[in-house]
Amino acid sequence: MKTLLTGARIIDPAQKIDAVMDILFEDGKIIKTGHDLIKPAKSRDTGKIKIIKLDGLLLTPGLIDIHTHLREPGMEYKETIASGSKAAVVGGFTSIACMPNTDPVNDNRSITEFIKRKAAEADLANVYPIGAISKSSAGTQLTEFWDLKEAGVVAFSDDGKPVMDAALMRHAMEYAYSLDLPVISHCEDINLSVGGQMNEGYYSTILGMRGIPSIAEEAMVARDILIAEFTETSVHIAHVSTAGSIRLIREAKKRGLKVTAETAPHYFTLTDESLQSYSTNLKVNPPLRSAADVKAVKEGLADGTLDAIVTDHAPHARTDKELEFEYAANGISGMETSLGLSLRLVHEGALALPELVAKMSLNPARILNLPKGTLAAGADADITVIDPQLKWKIDVPSFFSKGKNSPFHGWEMQGRAVLTIVGGEIKHALLSLNI
Ligand code: DOR
Repeated sequence: MKTLLTGARIIDPAQKIDAVMDILFEDGKIIKTGHDLIKPAKSRDTGKIKIIKLDGLLLTPGLIDIHTHLREPGMEYKETIASGSKAAVVGGFTSIACMPNTDPVNDNRSITEFIKRKAAEADLANVYPIGAISKSSAGTQLTEFWDLKEAGVVAFSDDGKPVMDAALMRHAMEYAYSLDLPVISHCEDINLSVGGQMNEGYYSTILGMRGIPSIAEEAMVARDILIAEFTETSVHIAHVSTAGSIRLIREAKKRGLKVTAETAPHYFTLTDESLQSYSTNLKVNPPLRSAADVKAVKEGLADGTLDAIVTDHAPHARTDKELEFEYAANGISGMETSLGLSLRLVHEGALALPELVAKMSLNPARILNLPKGTLAAGADADITVIDPQLKWKIDVPSFFSKGKNSPFHGWEMQGRAVLTIVGGEIKHALLSLNI
């Protein structure tokens, strides 16, 4: 049966569409987008068409998160592929790419196949596994890239850990490039960050906490840009958090290098000043930075230096977080707050809505070469419907994610995903839809 979504403002950056339009899909594929798709003359056909009225709402290509941590296999008490996928569709995401730092690490075909099987069983969001660069992400020996590609990974990363060995990173970039897959770099020089709890600066000094200097990130951003340039390959820089990284990436792009980059909502929403609460929910890697860095991240998003907004969804259990700050795990559970926090950029005028949509759908799809991120005819019917006016309060205990580690409990948001359609099927609906 055909489904017609009518009355919404459709934003599809790939087709440069921003207008109130209809969209028609059937059998999981988009048929077309346009005005008055059902003409009165053909109104007798409408009985065969499911019509969903979406007046006043915003309709975008399904949101895509290319940096998420599902904890299965191995740490199912933090998150499972099913619980993470549920959190994804509730957050408005139709596709997610999961980092390999599970236990065991996704460094071989059997783990990749396991993740894909579990995701198919969950039958919620599309889940794309990312394979490890090095065996056990230990940073010494490359994984079998070709085998992992055949098994279905969409990128390579040791995220959670940096690849400290520059020669290994060089070979990873060369090999991945020849396979047409991106390398996603967690940029951190651990000799500079070792023992650090938070951003090095004024607040680490007055709080007496050991700092992680911004150069721990920037030195590696610079190195990886140099390797990508030297080897004429490409690199995607993960979770960018500092003004210096943004300057380096901006310059690299200006010189025509194949560098892409992402940031996450906490890096444009919170500063290291918040660490005065000592809340371990604020402990994240890279750490929350200074107000000047936050300003630079927003500027980087606005001028295109930062291509994508990712969640860096890092769910942890209470036992990982209710500890002395030093011993608490790094990470923020971000799947269900990412869209709301990102829409704040639009409310404050830092980013136009179509730009935000591009950074959360089209650009992530392009970075990972996914056949997604557009509402063009023939594309998969992956659609997110957002109520841009809906005011709501973040309620962490009611997250669908098992990870309740969020510093945003009680924050007032405006704008929320109310309908998430994956492959033509409704996977989440907050609306009482008139179907
Ligand atoms: O805060 C973080 N948490 N940063 C990372 O790089 C890894 C992640 C995790 O896996 O928990």
